[in-house]
Amino acid sequence: MATVELDRVTRKFSKSAAIEDISFKIPDGEFWVLVGPSGCGKSTILRTIAGLESATSGDLYIGDRLVNQIPARQRDVAMVFQNYALYPHLSVAENIAFGLKMRQVESSTIQAQVEKVARILEISHLLERKPRQLSGGQQQRVALGRAIARQPQVFLLDEPLSNLDAQLRDGTRTELKQLHQQVGITTIYVTHDQVEAMTLADQIVVLDRGKIQQIGTPQQIYDRPVNRMVATFLGSPPMNLIPVTFTGVQFRIGDQAITGSLNVAPGQYEFGIRPEHIEIEAANPHCFGLVSVIEPLGRESLVRVILEGCAVNLQTPPELNLKLGDRVPLRFDLDRIFLFDPTSGARIF
Ligand SMILES: Nc1ncnc2c1ncn2[C@@H]1O[C@H](COP(=O)(O)OP(=O)(O)OP(=O)(O)O)[C@@H](O)[C@H]1O
Ligand SMILES: [Mg+2]
Repeated sequence: MATVELDRVTRKFSKSAAIEDISFKIPDGEFWVLVGPSGCGKSTILRTIAGLESATSGDLYIGDRLVNQIPARQRDVAMVFQNYALYPHLSVAENIAFGLKMRQVESSTIQAQVEKVARILEISHLLERKPRQLSGGQQQRVALGRAIARQPQVFLLDEPLSNLDAQLRDGTRTELKQLHQQVGITTIYVTHDQVEAMTLADQIVVLDRGKIQQIGTPQQIYDRPVNRMVATFLGSPPMNLIPVTFTGVQFRIGDQAITGSLNVAPGQYEFGIRPEHIEIEAANPHCFGLVSVIEPLGRESLVRVILEGCAVNLQTPPELNLKLGDRVPLRFDLDRIFLFDPTSGARIF
C-alpha cells in the first residue's frame, strides 16, 4: 500500500494539454474516484500514474518514491483498462494468475487466490476458457480479477464495470467496496456512473477539460459544489438551472417572482435547485408551472414543468394525480438554493 501524489502534473499531446496542472495527494489506503465528461483527461491521469504515459511536466510520487523516471513494471500498480486488454493466448485462470506468476508466488497460493477472485467475480465456471470465448462483461471481470489477484500497492481502475449489466454491476460494486474495506489498497477509480462515484469514494475528483474543478467527499461535492459544472454533473436528474434577476428582495423569473433575500449583489444569475428540493402542489407556492412530462418510476415520478419557458425537473410521490398541461403550484426549499454567475459559472451563493 502507498500514498499517491501528483504535483502539478501536465501531459500535452502535440500542443494541447490533455491534463493540466493536476495536483492531489491520496493518503495510503483511500479510495478516490475521478469523474468528468468524456475527454476530460481521466484515463490520461491513470495512464500517467501507471507509467504508460510520461508527464510533460510535474512530479509523481508513489509512497515516498519519485517515479517520473521509473518504468511502468517497477511501479507496483495494477491497472484495469477501459478496453480491458487480456492475454488472448492464456486461459481465464492464467490471465488472473499472470501477475502472481511474474512475482514467483508459490503455485498453491496462486491457485487459491485465482479461485477466490473468480468466486467473487462469478467467473469460476469460465476459468478454462480463452478470452475470445467470453462476452464483453465476462472479459471485463477477468481483467478486474487479474488486478485484484495481484494485491499491488495501488489499483488503477478505468471504468471497470462499464460493460456489466445492471444487476452484476451492483453486485460487483458492493464486492469491490467490501474488498477495499478488507485489504485497503490505495485505489483510483474512473467512472461515469453517479452511484458508483457516490457510494465508493472517500474523495471525488471532478475534472473538466483537463483541469481539476473540485476535490471533496461525495457529500461535499453534492452539497457544496464550487461551480455550475460540478453542480450539474453529479445528481440525477441534475440540478435545475433557472435564469433569474435578483433585485435584492426578489428573484424574478419571467413574469413571476419569488420573495427572498440573499447577501449578494442585485443582478442576473442562474438559480440552481435540485429536483428533490422542489415541492409540487404545495401550500404557499412560490410560483406556477405547466406539467410537460411525467415519468413514473414506481417509488416516485419524475415530472418536468415549464416555468416561464424554462424546463424544471422535480420528483413527486407517485400518487399525485398529475396530467400533462396542468398548471401546478411550486415551492422551492430556499435553504437549498445556489446562485451561479451566468458567464463564468462560478458559484456566488
Ligand atoms: N495518445 C493521444 N494522442 C493525442 N491526444 C490524446 C491521446 N490520448 C488522449 N488524448 C486526448 O486527451 C484528452 C483526454 O483523453 P482521456 O482519454 O484522458 O479522456 P477520458 O476522460 O478518459 O475520456 P473518456 O471518458 O471518453 O474515456 C482527449 O481530448 C483525448 O482526445
Ligand atoms: Mg477514458
